[in-house]
Amino acid sequence: PEQATVHDTEVIVVGTGIAGLYTALKIAEYADVVILCKKGLTESNTNRAQGGIAAAIAEGDSPDLHREDTLMAGAGLNSLTAVDVLVHDGPDLVEDLIQLGTQFDKEGEDDHLALTKEGAHSRRRILHANGDATGAEIVRALAAQVRQNPRITVIENAFAIDLITAENGSCKGLLYEHEGALRYIRSKATVLATGGAGRMYRYTTNPDVTTADGFAMAYRAGAQLQDLEFIQFHPTVLVYPGAPRFLISEAVRGEGAVLRNAAGERFMPAYHALEELAPRDIVARAIVSEIEKTKSTYVYLDITHQPPELIKSRFPTIYAFCLSYGLDMTTDWIPVAPAQHYVMGGVKTDLYGETNVRRLFACGEVSCTGVHGANRLASNSLSEAIVFGKRIAERVQAFLDEPCEHIGLPTVPTRYPSPVEMIEDRKLHLQKVMVRYVGVKRTKESLERALAEMGRLAPMLSHAYSKPSEWEFINLLTAAMLTAQAALLREESRGGHYRNDFPKQDEQWLKHIVFQHGIGVIE
Ligand code: SIN
Repeated sequence: PEQATVHDTEVIVVGTGIAGLYTALKIAEYADVVILCKKGLTESNTNRAQGGIAAAIAEGDSPDLHREDTLMAGAGLNSLTAVDVLVHDGPDLVEDLIQLGTQFDKEGEDDHLALTKEGAHSRRRILHANGDATGAEIVRALAAQVRQNPRITVIENAFAIDLITAENGSCKGLLYEHEGALRYIRSKATVLATGGAGRMYRYTTNPDVTTADGFAMAYRAGAQLQDLEFIQFHPTVLVYPGAPRFLISEAVRGEGAVLRNAAGERFMPAYHALEELAPRDIVARAIVSEIEKTKSTYVYLDITHQPPELIKSRFPTIYAFCLSYGLDMTTDWIPVAPAQHYVMGGVKTDLYGETNVRRLFACGEVSCTGVHGANRLASNSLSEAIVFGKRIAERVQAFLDEPCEHIGLPTVPTRYPSPVEMIEDRKLHLQKVMVRYVGVKRTKESLERALAEMGRLAPMLSHAYSKPSEWEFINLLTAAMLTAQAALLREESRGGHYRNDFPKQDEQWLKHIVFQHGIGVIE
């Protein structure tokens, strides 16, 4: 067995999206923090977030209206207390983001904050920055604060392998790989802010780094994972030869874009009263139905009726990206289809981001605070990250004064070399299985087929690996198996989980599926 070098800190934060950066800054007000990031400081889902961040700050809006919309989207499975915290604390913490240097777009003679609308919001309450590059602006501002904070140490290109727990189950830090060496960092508290699991699917809006690491690490450490069957597919992701799957923000529909099928007909009015701005799951399924009906692989998003200047100034990133592939949004319809976007479930936490594993916290997409229920309301995720990040910082403080006996060095498993090409093939196979059988529409047969395919890969779970790409595959497989199992158990359709064989919402399923130590419990 290999010897890992060891070092200590007070608090570890894993991940550098808005959840990791903001929580680290808040904790650094009273403690030393080490941030681990898998690649560079700015590589995250947040950095790609277009639409914006939701907060009830407009005249005529209120936390109560924001709560109503969040609950409506969540389809009965939101935690009411978590939603209350989100909608009430959100406005002040958005103000804190501004104090930390984030420059949201403004408009009008009085230079008030500009607000847009997205699906299922009853009011304009989405703040945005540089038109459609909101996340990148937030990351810019927070990363600058992090870099100049003397109490924060950032370790880039550090791959977190596993949490280390003491005999009493409490989290003592983690094992990670950096520059080819294994290291063990001990802490009094650890915050997972590792983002989602988009790369379980072949088609996703998420970056390459989104490989379910936090879900799988927490699960192996004994944490409870909840609501994993609820996967949000973003309805409008670019599908164009040679181009990567690129998000076309819901804000484009918020500014009037309509959807047309392959025959050029507008179809959303036939599916929902809110038409193109219906909840995402409804729009995504409507698109899949139209794609099936017309035997096409995409539908069109049409905003050509809006003035070209408005399109270019409101959506500079999307406009430039499409144009680089020869598509001019001001005159062309954009071919789009749904792709995986967000995982509603995750590591179960209380209202202070604390998991059932002592000294382990989760924040942002990796967590399941209960805010989103069965379906996340657009632009609520950035708000969730700051609201619960702040609360984690309040709670973590208590652990610093508690005596914490550090355990000795963990045993590092013997490593087996295994050719990377095989891992890449297997990963692609898994991603295709997830798209085909655990996608927008599911059935008992499709889910059983998925689990059978995954079962063939499962023996790999018991091996020890040596490279980040191998650990990533194991983490993806772990999350994919739990997602498919949860989807098979839930015999109804609700939010981001749709079963062709159980197409109705069923009151008896106002319950959560929670996994821990290999057992799924319906509670
Ligand atoms: C978008 O801009 O459509 C994405 C916003 C979100 O997923 O919250």
